[in-house]
Amino acid sequence: MSAYLLPQNDDREKRAAELADAASKYKYNMDIGIPLIDSEGPDDANKLDWKIKIFALLLRLRKNVQAICDKSGLKFQEARPVRDIPRLVSVLTSGGDTVEYFTPDLGFVASPQESRPTSIKDYTDKVFVDRDHNNRGSAPLPEMAHVWDSDLTFAYNFLAGPNPAMLQRFTPQTKPVDFDLTTVDLGSLSEFGGDTMERAIREGRVYFVDHTDLRAIFAHLPNAPAPNAAPRTFKSEVSGDWKYIYAPYAVFVVPPDGKHMLPVAIRCGLKTEGNHIYTPKDGYSWRMARVCMLAAHNNHHEVVSHLGLTHLLIDPICMATRLRLHSRHPVYRLLNPHFEGTASVNIGARTSLILPERSVDRLVGSKIERNYPYLQEQRLGYSFRGNFPKVRAASRGVDDASLLPNYPYREDAALIWDAIHSWVSDYVSIWYHSEADIRADYELQAWANEINDIGKVKDFCLSGGGVHGRDDLIDLLTMTIFTAGPQHAAVNFPQGREMLFVPVNPMAGYAPAPMGHGHTEADFLRILPPLDVAVQTWSVLNLLAGVNNTRLGDYRGAFLTHPVSEAYNLKFRANLLMIEGKINSANRIRRGIYGLDYVHLLPSRIPASINI
Ligand SMILES: [Fe+2]
Repeated sequence: MSAYLLPQNDDREKRAAELADAASKYKYNMDIGIPLIDSEGPDDANKLDWKIKIFALLLRLRKNVQAICDKSGLKFQEARPVRDIPRLVSVLTSGGDTVEYFTPDLGFVASPQESRPTSIKDYTDKVFVDRDHNNRGSAPLPEMAHVWDSDLTFAYNFLAGPNPAMLQRFTPQTKPVDFDLTTVDLGSLSEFGGDTMERAIREGRVYFVDHTDLRAIFAHLPNAPAPNAAPRTFKSEVSGDWKYIYAPYAVFVVPPDGKHMLPVAIRCGLKTEGNHIYTPKDGYSWRMARVCMLAAHNNHHEVVSHLGLTHLLIDPICMATRLRLHSRHPVYRLLNPHFEGTASVNIGARTSLILPERSVDRLVGSKIERNYPYLQEQRLGYSFRGNFPKVRAASRGVDDASLLPNYPYREDAALIWDAIHSWVSDYVSIWYHSEADIRADYELQAWANEINDIGKVKDFCLSGGGVHGRDDLIDLLTMTIFTAGPQHAAVNFPQGREMLFVPVNPMAGYAPAPMGHGHTEADFLRILPPLDVAVQTWSVLNLLAGVNNTRLGDYRGAFLTHPVSEAYNLKFRANLLMIEGKINSANRIRRGIYGLDYVHLLPSRIPASINI
């Protein structure tokens, strides 16, 4: 008898009791208003290979951060010796916070003046150690550091950066309140000679990213210099500096017969608050507007696109799988590797990473507590079916490659979605021979309803609840696997690559948005993150992107006992290999166009689950 059985085919009387016993180990946690797993169960833990990788990473980070401190000469409040053996022994033996030991929160640089960059070169010279510094560590300068000042790089961030699915086509229906695009003189920009905004809108070549709703997380602190300012704090100590979040709107246009879009206008807040529309002709005022846009975009990335819509979306699906499916259920067997480490890493995030005055709070522009209601609203309002990647691209008007060419995230995500969909279709066909088999699977029906009704994953079920048929199940499983694997990889791993050089991808601004014109380099440097924040960013983001464990398509031998599943799995893995080749070829073209490639959806780099 197969170890995998649908409940209607399992005549063992103890199945229900076994499932109830397994489910009894779980309860929901509602600390941040989203249903999450309270404590990890036996199937949730990371395996030994993950533990070895994280320990090696932590050792490396400790050494590298120390090398940066040595080279930069920055004097942090809390810098510790690189080898604090007694403390390490105490951490390891008493079960203390190993992450805190290895990636210490360095605090501030004592003098705010010392932390201000005097030129962009300060970031390259003080935050990065290109070669082993006295053989004690290294922090290589990222590729983005060489192209930070280009509008093409700015555009690329929205097509292949950390938060690559926010773009939307401009239409009269999506027209923003209070932003008259026709005031932008397109023809005066060098790449658009002879073009007009009216013509570009008519031809569907105008796109935008709208972060005006980030006003919901402005701090509104009594003594803040502006409603969008939050103090920099370290263990309840305030630095005297302020950091800022913005609610901007950026417009991009693809030139006629162009190979890519370019930014043409940014406004950092409402017109009624005195904000101007800046264009690439505005020198340092334009560069400051780009910083405002990226700070907002990256705040949204960490809180919503990364944490909310991957980590905290998969968590209740994992929970429902533990509660409603017996471990012999074929869907449990399929999904289990896609949940490896997720509950564990989410518990760590909830109890440490996203708390006030901890890592994420230190780096993003807004106060973390102000983000929770926004995170809740975005996560609970996110339509599971409305965000299948091709559905999302179509509904946002960014699916047409003839109008918006060379969009790496869209292209690679579609290839991988199709491969997962084909694999899941094959797998489902083994177990469900008719629609009646789906209807009779009472565990599966309860699973879907649990996710929709209790886990609050909007639109998981179609009207009437449950799973409607084989096609419906295939879609649900494909999106679950896509979110746990490729989508998380797309938003997680740019943290360790594209986001390390803060002038090109800041997570907060450190001055109010520009007003008026004629800003100088000094104004621009003032809005960028200070050097101590840049070092802390390097340390935290390298941790968050530093472990790449397990591989999409590799089920660690789970199907070896079932030859048909194993054969289909081999087909899936062969498909992924072909996609790897296609993306590598596309990357040669992308490098020719953008000077950069897009590696985050290469199948060989996509873990099966969210485990970091
Ligand atoms: Fe992550």
